[in-house]
Amino acid sequence: MIYFDSAATTFQKPRSVAAAMEDALATMSSPGRGGYGAAMRAADAAFACREALAELYHLKNPEQVVFTMNATHALNIAIKSLVPKGGRAVISGYEHNAVTRPLAALGAETAVAAGPLFHPEAVEAAFDREITPGTDAVICNHVSNVFGFVQPVEAVAAICRSRGVPFIIDASQSAGVLPLDMEALGAAFIAMPGHKGLYGPQGTGVLLCGQGVETATLLEGGTGSMSLQQAMPDFLPDRLEAGTHNMPGIAGLLAGVQFVRSQGLGAICRRERLLALLAADGLKKLPGVRVYAQPDLADQAGVVSFTAEGREVEALAGALAERGIAVRAGLHCAPAAHQTAGTVDTGTVRASFSHWNTPEEVARFLAAMGEILR
Ligand code: ALA
Repeated sequence: MIYFDSAATTFQKPRSVAAAMEDALATMSSPGRGGYGAAMRAADAAFACREALAELYHLKNPEQVVFTMNATHALNIAIKSLVPKGGRAVISGYEHNAVTRPLAALGAETAVAAGPLFHPEAVEAAFDREITPGTDAVICNHVSNVFGFVQPVEAVAAICRSRGVPFIIDASQSAGVLPLDMEALGAAFIAMPGHKGLYGPQGTGVLLCGQGVETATLLEGGTGSMSLQQAMPDFLPDRLEAGTHNMPGIAGLLAGVQFVRSQGLGAICRRERLLALLAADGLKKLPGVRVYAQPDLADQAGVVSFTAEGREVEALAGALAERGIAVRAGLHCAPAAHQTAGTVDTGTVRASFSHWNTPEEVARFLAAMGEILR
């Protein structure tokens, strides 16, 4: 199979990830639940994973790294910590349902700071207009999961800092590909999956919490700490990590983060961009194909969306699947992004790349697309 659906989850993982998971199953129990060997091994692995992520994102204290089930879980904690029922949020024009649905559930007044695709200055100007007094939180993804658009989170963070408004970054598509410095950004939260560009297994996610930020719990339960007290501990990570940890997942995530750091984000990003560029250039030459890509991918990561005149996107993805090529078609759980880009009526076919893909695979994909369109 040629796997071009890494924006959903990276399917190919480093061998070290499976090995770490197997080792965790064989040797680790629960962290913080005992002083015996298996519990201590689990505690050490969990702390090492927090440390590796803290270093990657420039966080002083590894305890600000909270493990979640996925990015949706992390975003729900972040949003519900900052936005009260009926509160006000400002979001970008490219947000996922993991942001818009929690805001809808809160009955929040949501202002959309939308700019056209691949125009970061327009997005920055829109945030500048919309972040008004009384805004409870600003939320923006670093990279759009549909179009690969790299949004100007550094500039949005600067506006938030100057107006004293907390900022939540959804790093779902940038984690493991593009750097973020949490300390310099002054973000309240950064949420990410463990199972995409960080190459951990499904069932892992991370919430980075800013120093001193107030957090609301989604779950209450055992933490192995302050057990006589019936309120959740007020310190991190315990406050947000009720119940038994996913140790095979966390050990796998640690191996994934170590792999990313050994390759270097820059190298991974260059590779994915090159593949996206090859795919976009090839697709543009096919009859009736509309490609949503910048000529040089200056503000775009390794994700390319496209449509073909007179063809249903699901049918195109189905025809590719018959030829052993995995892509995702439709609205990608991000109708708001399609609304902004003008593709909500058709959806798009999305090809998204990882470290493991090759130019030869892109050539085979383009040949298959040519054949399907003939
Ligand atoms: N949000 C993920 C995607 O874009 C699951 O496919």
